[in-house]
Amino acid sequence: MSIKSLAPRSDFPLLAGNPKLHYLDSAATTQKPQSVLDAISGYYERDNANPHRGAYTLSAAATEAYQTARDSIARFLGASDPDTLIFTRGTTESLNLIATAWGHANVKKGDRIVVTRLEHHANFVPWQQLALAVGADFKICELSSEGELDLTHLSELVTKNTKVVAFGHVSNALGNVNPVADIVAIAHRVGALTVCDGAQSAPHLNVGFDSLGVDAYAFSGHKMLGPMGSGGLIAKRDLLEAMPPYQMGGDMISMVGDGATTWNILPHKFEAGTPNVEGAVGLAAAVAYLEKLGMDNVHAHELALGRYASECLAAVEDVTVLGPPPERRGGLVTFTLRDVHPHDLSQLLDAENIAVRAGHHCAQPLMRALGVNATTRASFYVYNESSDVDALVRAVASVRDRFAVAP
Ligand code: ALA
Repeated sequence: MSIKSLAPRSDFPLLAGNPKLHYLDSAATTQKPQSVLDAISGYYERDNANPHRGAYTLSAAATEAYQTARDSIARFLGASDPDTLIFTRGTTESLNLIATAWGHANVKKGDRIVVTRLEHHANFVPWQQLALAVGADFKICELSSEGELDLTHLSELVTKNTKVVAFGHVSNALGNVNPVADIVAIAHRVGALTVCDGAQSAPHLNVGFDSLGVDAYAFSGHKMLGPMGSGGLIAKRDLLEAMPPYQMGGDMISMVGDGATTWNILPHKFEAGTPNVEGAVGLAAAVAYLEKLGMDNVHAHELALGRYASECLAAVEDVTVLGPPPERRGGLVTFTLRDVHPHDLSQLLDAENIAVRAGHHCAQPLMRALGVNATTRASFYVYNESSDVDALVRAVASVRDRFAVAP
């Protein structure tokens, strides 16, 4: 089979400079196209100043660049109210923001917090720690025997005293694409807040925040061709307006009295200090690049590579592919090779110029339930093609032949 890359490798300086590299770790971070690098350097060459606080032309240009970026990223994610997009350092900060600011104001002793077995630590630990701090109940929705979220279990867990259901849109460890509408319906039946970790969906799917139904959605720019340290939280306006601020400092205030302070309007209330304008501008360029490719094409491309990789890897003796079938997964494949530790495997693959991720993928609660302490994960993006998969499969088969212990 031959699947061509959706985007030319020549658009990505790092890949163009390393023609032998098979980069299969885009779920961890993506490579960046030249247009993103140009947008960042162009910003510093033309428009750099501290936005918001300066009444001079250059500061107005920086403010304009920052707000224009917000508008285009909100549009890309299907949020019609751009001021409900709060820029953060990425998914982790966004989830900590809501778990801390909303959580401490709204979750009390005896309330319940529900997460799922699939969560990345960033959408597990902040809620677990909130529960411990306030004396709330912390419950985990388990997987069905088919390895998918058990919605019957979720319905049982979501009781009248449940204040929040936090879940990932797409699992970074197994690739499950979760049924957002069903989860939201279960949570909203009791008026619980829904918080969605979109780190692995914003880069790959048409998100459509306004119709997704969740109350809050967190995402990272660096997993969608943008710069590290960029990303955000999109949430419903009434939720953000009712929530206390997360960090205090410049720009997030309206009036500071000697004894009390009032807060700025959205989005500034949640963006204390000098903002990451470079990150926003770079992410807007990444979004423009993805829009040109078309998100339906991006998704179809990853599905095709994921299916091809699953089939080829499953055919290698002693390989076990984990997770749901490829059509219900994002563009990644997670597997184990009998008798070879994932860390050893990834180092042996590295010697063949194949970059994959090995470990617990920041999902230790999930690894425990799967009965493994680590897996190997190959993840795909717009610059990958079937030759990357072929190289991976050849190399895994060769490691198997060299190192697998006879039964
Ligand atoms: N959370 C990132 C991953 O899944 C680092 O690889």
